[in-house]
Amino acid sequence: MIAWRETYNIGVQEVDRQHQELVEKLNEFLDACINQKGKEKIMETLSFLKAYTVEHFKDEEAIMQKIQYPAYAEHKKEHDDFIATVVELENGIMTQGPTILTTLKLNRTLTDWLLTHISKNDQKIAEYIRTNPVN
Ligand SMILES: [Fe+2]
Repeated sequence: MIAWRETYNIGVQEVDRQHQELVEKLNEFLDACINQKGKEKIMETLSFLKAYTVEHFKDEEAIMQKIQYPAYAEHKKEHDDFIATVVELENGIMTQGPTILTTLKLNRTLTDWLLTHISKNDQKIAEYIRTNPVN
């Protein structure tokens, strides 16, 4: 299980709530994987992610634009790549059904997302907000 850390917060309440929600879903998925229910849980998790990413990325991108975040384009590209990975996984499941490989891939995609995007790149937004208080 992955515990939420205070250091993951970016200081924007709505975004922090959304990030926590993702960690909860990741934990539910990891739990299902441990209990050999990963294949059953994978479609539900992907459906969640499709709706979640639309709302969450829209909010985060609006904040970046509002504060005129200099690394907007590269940050948005990571969001777009994440969406592409979710769609790719879903397409694979549509044609071949859930497999151990797709389960592992989703597991890894979500864990990497937390460890690299949320805890590092989203933190850069927080850092920018802190150092540019005029915004
Ligand atoms: Fe982000």
